[in-house]
Amino acid sequence: MTDIVVHPLRRPLTGGVPVPSDKSIGHRALLFGALANGVSRIRGFSRGEDNVSTARAMAAMGAEITDVSETELSVKGTGLFGLREPEGPLDCGNSGTTMRLLAGLLAAQPFKTTLIGDETLCRRPMMRVVGPLRARGAIIEGKPHPSKPDNVTAPLVIGPLPEGTHLGELEYESPVASAQVKSAILLSGLYAHGVTRFREPSLSRDHTERMLLAMGAPLRTVGPVVELDPAGWKGVLEPIDVDIPGDVSAAAFLLVAAAISEGSRVTVRGVGTNPTRTGVLEILRDMGAGLEIVARGEQGGEPVAEITAWHTTLRAGRIGGEIVPRAIDEIPIVCALAARAEGETVITDAEELRVKESDRIATMAVVLRAFGVDCDERPDGLAIRGHKGALRPAEVDSKGDHRIAMTAAVLALHASGPTRIKDCDCIATSFPRFVGTLRALGAEIDVPA
Ligand code: S3P
Repeated sequence: MTDIVVHPLRRPLTGGVPVPSDKSIGHRALLFGALANGVSRIRGFSRGEDNVSTARAMAAMGAEITDVSETELSVKGTGLFGLREPEGPLDCGNSGTTMRLLAGLLAAQPFKTTLIGDETLCRRPMMRVVGPLRARGAIIEGKPHPSKPDNVTAPLVIGPLPEGTHLGELEYESPVASAQVKSAILLSGLYAHGVTRFREPSLSRDHTERMLLAMGAPLRTVGPVVELDPAGWKGVLEPIDVDIPGDVSAAAFLLVAAAISEGSRVTVRGVGTNPTRTGVLEILRDMGAGLEIVARGEQGGEPVAEITAWHTTLRAGRIGGEIVPRAIDEIPIVCALAARAEGETVITDAEELRVKESDRIATMAVVLRAFGVDCDERPDGLAIRGHKGALRPAEVDSKGDHRIAMTAAVLALHASGPTRIKDCDCIATSFPRFVGTLRALGAEIDVPA
């Protein structure tokens, strides 16, 4: 397992850089493209490991996925009813999105499948998809969760749906705003006899709705309610031609790094700015960071922009409510922003962070304290007191969580000596070129052999 050593910043971070393609949109393009009738083109694809897990799973069920170039794929779909039984378990790696979306899709298939994942993924709760899928007739078994008696984890054994039976209608009010749950329910709904109606407490990322609609699925949305009614629909998804925008969740690490580092100014090009994802930009602005967002039209049915962030004096923020699902993956790096702001930043309503790739509330509290930042861990968030002056050089364990590893790397730029971040292979799940990108902006990072 690779460690990295990050050195204190000796000059401002400057420059313009690209970021990897949006991981969420990448999963959907691969998965939905594999179900289409025809050949889809996926351009600007950056091969993060999570997306590769989805590609492998769909290929194992008959989709023909071909490399056209380093950044372009073609996907020949099987049609909605053409998937074949895979020869073995489908390995979702570290990717919760792969596992939960596949659970929805496979629940409707006439064959049996087993979903497995790495150690981290096998600790994550799966009842949030298993429960509503069972409620519409799916056959799914999971392993009892080690600490949550009502929950299950992977491996998930799914189906087969007995011959001549179908999933039924479903009206589901999700207790959490979750695009993974929403997408699993909608995918199962494509095969169901009856209407699917999904409501969430506030709108989670809506890439699934946008893409399925563009492919001809009988879907409509009203605020946080989405309805899918297959009556009269021919069961055909049209192939797509999509140029995936840059991932705002990856961009956030670079924008925050610039915002907290004296004299810095960083531009990230071609970033997706779907409003269900841009909570972090609002937080940056609220906390006083220099930020310019120049709209650059649409890509693949999603708005894109060029975003520049620069250093200014930062003030503490209050982060809670509906913005949290729109910044859910960015809360770790927002903690780094808070660590360099004046005053106490309070993050609430973020209990979902406890069930991400690690318990991100607990892990961030450990990381912040290792750097000498004063903070309290709360059941649903953190209170972080901004730290004046250099941070303490630290030795930090990423806990195998890519976003923790990258947040620690950004904090380490402000330490008074080198910081070792352990277990950084996980960074490749979402941002394979993270180290090179930070170096290109002026950071000094060693990857010891
Ligand atoms: C994702 C949804 C979010 C997010 C995850 C990716 C997606 O999870 O945290 O990284 O692509 O649908 P939830 O849907 O569980 O909030």
